[in-house]
Amino acid sequence: MSFVALPGFRDAFPDALARRRRIFDVWRQVATRYGFEEYDGPPLEPLELYTQKSGEEIVEQLYTFTDKGGRSVALRPEMTPTLARMVAQRAAQLRKPIRWFSIPQLFRYERQQRGRLREHFQLNMDIIGEAGPLADAEVIAAAVDVVRALGFGPGEVRVRVSDRRVLAELLTDELGVREPELPGVLTALDKYERAGAAAQAGLGAALGGDAARTEGVARFAARLRDPAPLLATPAAAPLRACVGHLAATGLGAFVEVDFRVVRGLAYYTGIVFELFDAKRELRAICGGGRYDNLLKDVGGVDLPCVGFGMGDVVLGELIAARDGPAAGSPAVDVFVAVVGAEDRPSALALAHALRERGIRVEFALRTQALGKQLELAAARGARHAVVIGPSEREAGEAVVRALETGAEARVSLEHLATEYGFA
Ligand code: HAM
Repeated sequence: MSFVALPGFRDAFPDALARRRRIFDVWRQVATRYGFEEYDGPPLEPLELYTQKSGEEIVEQLYTFTDKGGRSVALRPEMTPTLARMVAQRAAQLRKPIRWFSIPQLFRYERQQRGRLREHFQLNMDIIGEAGPLADAEVIAAAVDVVRALGFGPGEVRVRVSDRRVLAELLTDELGVREPELPGVLTALDKYERAGAAAQAGLGAALGGDAARTEGVARFAARLRDPAPLLATPAAAPLRACVGHLAATGLGAFVEVDFRVVRGLAYYTGIVFELFDAKRELRAICGGGRYDNLLKDVGGVDLPCVGFGMGDVVLGELIAARDGPAAGSPAVDVFVAVVGAEDRPSALALAHALRERGIRVEFALRTQALGKQLELAAARGARHAVVIGPSEREAGEAVVRALETGAEARVSLEHLATEYGFA
């Protein structure tokens, strides 16, 4: 019997993990530069946390089971409900606005497709306690700065910004959509760009099979391509302000207003946005927006929130398309080799002293010919080998060989252990 990882789950071999680490490093650097503090929550949560507020799409994708205590639980498919739950617990003590980030691993039973797996890591950055559009602009700027820090410009990545309030106003005031129908209609509109006719069926269902209103909203959906008329409406004032702040920050070249961006999650209440590759070949790199009611609904605390989630999968694909397959980098700086078994105590003492200095050291774990040891040193990408043999040892010395050039020098063991620079 042979086992492989489950579909949609990844084995992280060292080369792939190195690339993931680089993404995580950039995520942490940018979040920290924006003054965000890191938090985390449990990977398993009560099922209801998601069934209440996340919306149909995510609920259908839950990994859920009954635990041994009879509780209905789910692996977290997103971080936002956990964040809302945690902030609500300490809302009174926390200084607002709260700026928090997290890098959780998330689980969704997705249909297999490019850019979507059944587990992924997601940078979440959220601002809690500020309702104005400068907070929206701040998180969008942070998302853009992540892709900039990974070396992508406006020619490669774009952020499309919209506002559900603008859509909601038109839908209810002019197209006869009733308040309770709005979430379903917005979810159907979210699928419109990708799914076309299939989304039209969802729209019909959301409007209770009312053909006239479905037709009206479908015509409206087709008009969303041109942002100008909607952007001029009074309801678009926060969106205009947000776009203005992004321009002032210097990131205007990345930004497009596009009312076709609606977002699939149910809890968004205002500005929403997504980052995409400029060629639009891949799924969204990042998605987020304002959700001013979730904290009240989940924790009984009335605080406005805005934030985003950015996954490692599409980002990884973009980096791989640009840089080629992930390559491992050397794990070792210095390889300590011995001529004979009697040299080993000196070699162990030196290796340990070097490791204490933070130098990455490896040596052969069994007695081997010197040539074999040097082969392993080269395979590891070590820049230096230190060779200890009986005659050097007697003189309190060792031979340092630069593996790239073959240049050799005799250096005292004492000097090697305490201060020799392996430059
Ligand atoms: P989301 O749009 O469901 O939003 O996910 C955000 C991002 O996570 C996506 O744009 C994508 O990069 C990544 N992602 C989602 N699902 C998958 C998957 N199955 N495989 C790979 N990557 C995936 C949320 O999760 C919101 N909670 C984000 C948020 C935070 N909104 C406000 N604050």
